[in-house]
Amino acid sequence: VKVALLGFGTVGSHVARILATDAKDLQLTHVFNRGVERKKVDWLPDVRWTDNADHVLSSDADIVVEVMGGREPAGTYVRRALESGKSVVTANKQLIANDGTALLELARERGVHLSYEASVAGGIPVVRALREGLSGDRLHRVSGVLNGTCNYILTRMGEAGATFESALAEAQALGFAEADPTDDVDGFDARAKLCILARVALGLDVSPGEVACRTIRDLRDVDFMYAQRLGCTIRQVSRVERLDDGSVVAWVQPAIVASGSPLARVTGSENVVLTSGVHGGETAFSGRGAGGGPTAVAVVSDLVAIARRGGQRNVSSPAVSRPSSVTAEFSAPHYLRFVVTDQPVIIARLATILATHRINIDAVFQAPGMSKDALPFVVTLEACDPAQVNAALAEMLRLDFNVAPPFWMPMLG
Ligand SMILES: NC(=O)c1ccc[n+]([C@@H]2O[C@H](COP(=O)([O-])OP(=O)(O)OC[C@H]3O[C@@H](n4cnc5c(N)ncnc54)[C@H](OP(=O)(O)O)[C@@H]3O)[C@@H](O)[C@H]2O)c1
Repeated sequence: VKVALLGFGTVGSHVARILATDAKDLQLTHVFNRGVERKKVDWLPDVRWTDNADHVLSSDADIVVEVMGGREPAGTYVRRALESGKSVVTANKQLIANDGTALLELARERGVHLSYEASVAGGIPVVRALREGLSGDRLHRVSGVLNGTCNYILTRMGEAGATFESALAEAQALGFAEADPTDDVDGFDARAKLCILARVALGLDVSPGEVACRTIRDLRDVDFMYAQRLGCTIRQVSRVERLDDGSVVAWVQPAIVASGSPLARVTGSENVVLTSGVHGGETAFSGRGAGGGPTAVAVVSDLVAIARRGGQRNVSSPAVSRPSSVTAEFSAPHYLRFVVTDQPVIIARLATILATHRINIDAVFQAPGMSKDALPFVVTLEACDPAQVNAALAEMLRLDFNVAPPFWMPMLG
């Protein structure tokens, strides 16, 4: 089976290495990359190197591997490969999350395969596990820690008392975070993966623009101290749930999670995906979510699966449907952190506003010995909706004792 690579970066070069050393039935024939001269390596002597994508798309390669990233021109190349009867393997989460429905339909029409195991949770074979291993269950919820960069930062803040800024700088120095960390820390990377999981696990076509994301940039080291007092820690959690009325709750945000829970146990740059099924209950998949080697293994596994099917046409891709609506509203206890100049009646004024919005306080925490000029303290709330919390916070923002805007996050059971 002849394979051509679009992109020879971190993942592409690892894929080539595996194909050159360990995949005897798969033959790498072409490598495409811009400025390809600087990419050439002597351990791939029989490969045609090109910076013209047409050379790949009009070649006799059976499968095209797209590991360039970005929606364009990767999307155009993938479309052209499928149209010309080639199967495609991609690691591109933004492409599959945004354009997956149309591309999978095109692959089905042409009778070729479009596989994307590497696009979510890198080295954890979760797409195949969900599609095959759990296909006997009726899954209704998927949640997880889907972004290794955020998890590295939050683990360092929790364990080493690092600030967000220093943990991010450390992640960048170690190569876990990009120079521009926006996609990771603001949740866009995780929500693309969440949409792919919604498709595979729940049969739902949810687009990234419909999923509310909240950044982890607003977390402070004191949040980890208070979380610890609650027997918890903090994770960037992604969650999608199908409700009985056909609507969907989907979001990506920082959340308080119990210390012993599967979401808390995944540390450093690892990922975890949790599924809830009607018959099988909860299942967890965890491991390395990224990295050239693990991601390349996922790509090559897709290649092997396609090769094993021989010339068998792909005539069906699993059916997906649109939810009646997508919302971030779900009832949960909440954590509110305030930073104030200390003065009497603060709690009374906050309690009055919360009562107006029919929100009950569960507990108030104030660590001793903090500066009275910028005093951080926490109020935890009994179960309520984010809309209630936001309405209350809009009023609280106007209170004169705030030194910084109040910060909130849900507390997951
Ligand atoms: N790295 C991971 O751990 C990981 C994990 C899971 C999924 N993925 C996904 O895998 C894909 C590749 O990631 P990566 O980490 O390997 O990225 P990368 O190291 O930046 O490699 C991408 C390669 O594609 C080339 N390229 C990009 N745009 C191009 C264009 N328009 N024309 C020609 N060549 C182009 C780049 O060339 P230049 O050298 O000139 O930039 C580079 O060699 C992405 O979709 C990513 O989201 C990566």
